[in-house]
Amino acid sequence: MELPTNPSGSRSRRRIIKTLGLGLTLANLPAFVSAGMTEIDQDTLDHGERLIPVTEKDLNAIEQFIEDCLAANRESDPQQAVQEVLARGVSDHKAMLKAVGDPIEAGLKVFLRSKDLTIFAASWTPQMNLMPHNHKMWANIGIYTGREDNILWERRKGSLEAKEARCLFPGDVAALHTNAIHSVTNPLPKFTGGIHIYGGDFFATERSQWDPETLLEEPSNGDRIREMFEKANRQWHKLNNG
Ligand SMILES: [Fe+2]
Repeated sequence: MELPTNPSGSRSRRRIIKTLGLGLTLANLPAFVSAGMTEIDQDTLDHGERLIPVTEKDLNAIEQFIEDCLAANRESDPQQAVQEVLARGVSDHKAMLKAVGDPIEAGLKVFLRSKDLTIFAASWTPQMNLMPHNHKMWANIGIYTGREDNILWERRKGSLEAKEARCLFPGDVAALHTNAIHSVTNPLPKFTGGIHIYGGDFFATERSQWDPETLLEEPSNGDRIREMFEKANRQWHKLNNG
């Protein structure tokens, strides 16, 4: 099974490196360019998300999709163009699931990290919740398994007010603007997996999160996010192993 991709796309890994331009350090090169060349080390990240190792097989399966996203990101409306690539990619959500792999723990598989674009597959354990947070860059989310419920929030009098809800099923894509604030829930008794694409270096950007009980804003806290992922995985393992 092949992922639906841009028919005019090539498979030149060399061209992908070229598109990244000069000025990027080795650490900022996308992980898939060469598995041995660069690694995205969890310890170098401030935000605490659990990283799931990306295998050579993963990289090969998703390489054309990443290249299509990189090309789209050079269009006059990058978010819209990338959204179209993502919509095409998850339109055959079974193929995307096969390419990315079955989610088995909460975490992120980071396929691309550059100053202009970040792409990862995020998996949420059953009934996992993520507190309201922002990204400070545009974001596109495409679901390939499970379901992701988004509450979109707006700032109001030093706090937040829920404005909109969107339930994303496999094949659905949501586009979040630069100032969007959302919280995420997996309401199902099974894993949810989605491709998340950001118009910048997600891991190098200081962001905010909001306490889910008080809705008070605080700087994104790596320890708290790390604990959230670990707790979700502990609960899942406990449920499975009794
Ligand atoms: Fe988010």
